[in-house]
Amino acid sequence: MGLSSIKNRVLALDFEIDPMAFICQKISMTKIQFDLSGKKVVVTGGASGIGFEITRHFLQAGAHVTIWDLTPDSLAKAASELVQWKSQLTTDSVNVGNRDQVAAAAAKLDRVDVVVNNAGITKDKSFAKMSFEDWDAVIQVNLTGLFNVTKGLLDKMTEAQGKRIINISSVVGLYGNFGQTNYAAAKAGVIGMTKTWAKELGKKGFCVNAIAPGFIRTSMTSAMPAEVLQQMAAKVPVARLGETSDIANAVLFLSSDQAAYINGTVISVDGGLTL
Ligand SMILES: NC(=O)c1ccc[n+]([C@@H]2O[C@H](COP(=O)([O-])OP(=O)(O)OC[C@H]3O[C@@H](n4cnc5c(N)ncnc54)[C@H](O)[C@@H]3O)[C@@H](O)[C@H]2O)c1
Repeated sequence: MGLSSIKNRVLALDFEIDPMAFICQKISMTKIQFDLSGKKVVVTGGASGIGFEITRHFLQAGAHVTIWDLTPDSLAKAASELVQWKSQLTTDSVNVGNRDQVAAAAAKLDRVDVVVNNAGITKDKSFAKMSFEDWDAVIQVNLTGLFNVTKGLLDKMTEAQGKRIINISSVVGLYGNFGQTNYAAAKAGVIGMTKTWAKELGKKGFCVNAIAPGFIRTSMTSAMPAEVLQQMAAKVPVARLGETSDIANAVLFLSSDQAAYINGTVISVDGGLTL
């Protein structure tokens, strides 16, 4: 509806308001809330950091979430912080790099609609100093882990439509980074897998996308000196570090019906860092 036709309608009601104010008020009143009730979600690495916030957002939106993370202690701590949604939450101790553990955990699930491959580690060193063990460990979790988890859960994704695979990559996978040969290679590999699965699975009711976070405030960054954090924030066009909720919001959107035509893309959630 154009501005003049809105104005005409308002005038027909025998009082006059500024049409632009009317539109702005309508827009500010519109709150997008994603309803994911009935959805069954697996979040790897959901016991802390970004994965924890993703889990909290899904629970708030009504989904049932299963967290796969390494230790029973970290899972118990996460569950205690999410106790208000305990009827929607399941946890299991799973190393995503271990195929037997993934298969055993997958066998306990009946149906899965959304997989969020979030678990990740770093073992940073310059290429000259990086050991074969550093390389293997990061590839095993950050690349092979996604293969293991998604392959393990594929048969559980049985709904005709609305299935989502969301892979957490990194801006480093797009642009590389000093000291992160292993991490950058794994995160770039995640993007290749995402695009391949988007092509292979699109006709089967899946949308497969990746998110590339920039500098996100987690327990890892909060241990850094304030001036280092300020320097990092100064590199970001929006002049702040990202919050875990910035990533969780993007994951929720990609999981929603509103994102049903987004497939095979990489969404940078980085405040413009990589421009
Ligand atoms: N924090 C950032 O600035 C940032 C930036 C870009 C990308 N990322 C990516 O986001 C994801 C989450 O990062 P985060 O900052 O929240 O890290 P984090 O260390 O706070 O959380 C990672 C979680 O993954 C779990 N995990 C690690 N190895 C696992 C394994 N083998 N099996 C199962 N779970 C395992 C950990 O126990 C932990 O709970 C990672 O993939 C990371 O690479 C983070």
